[in-house]
Amino acid sequence: MANKIGLFFGSSTGNTEAVSYQLQAEINSVDGWECDVHNIGASTPDLILKYNYLIFGIPTWNTGELQDDWDIFLPRIAEMDFKGKKIALFGLGDQNGYGYNFLDALGVLADEVLKQGADLYGMWKNDTYQYEESKAEIEDHFMGLGVDQEGQSEMTPQRIKGWVQQVIAEFSQA
Ligand SMILES: Cc1cc2nc3c(=O)[nH]c(=O)nc-3n(C[C@H](O)[C@H](O)[C@H](O)COP(=O)(O)O)c2cc1C
Repeated sequence: MANKIGLFFGSSTGNTEAVSYQLQAEINSVDGWECDVHNIGASTPDLILKYNYLIFGIPTWNTGELQDDWDIFLPRIAEMDFKGKKIALFGLGDQNGYGYNFLDALGVLADEVLKQGADLYGMWKNDTYQYEESKAEIEDHFMGLGVDQEGQSEMTPQRIKGWVQQVIAEFSQA
């Protein structure tokens, strides 16, 4: 039986949704792994907790804020027990337009899932991005994959491939 990953995304203008399906295709091409994609706006805690492997995708909106559907869902995360869950995160943002708040929502969501006992995977080197400040940053890493469809869309396919390989290797080891 294949290992199942539940990928939950929020998306206001479709970029995070499109990246979610690209991640799904990449994961499904790996032997022994399968990915279901869900919109967080139509999801429940019960559905999320059915999966032991999880990916959450979130864009930053309104200068450092969570995307609307994630903003609404966040209080429910605070009631969930993620102990034993393996979770990887990705975020969308615009480093040129919002260089002082680049991927902030990724950092906010990472803090929340860590508080609920999750093990976080898929930390991503931040040296190919140019920005001033980010709540998603820890030293030379982001708390997950960063995707910038405004400024660096040409790098997205390679980033997706590299991150999926990394996350599956980390999920498999753990
Ligand atoms: C009004 C507005 C505010 C934004 N604020 C931020 C921000 O603070 N930080 C950031 O990294 N990106 C910011 N962005 C960029 C979005 O995160 C980016 O366009 C993303 O791809 C949108 O994803 P979605 O289409 O899935 O909603 C903003 C975009 C708009 C239009």
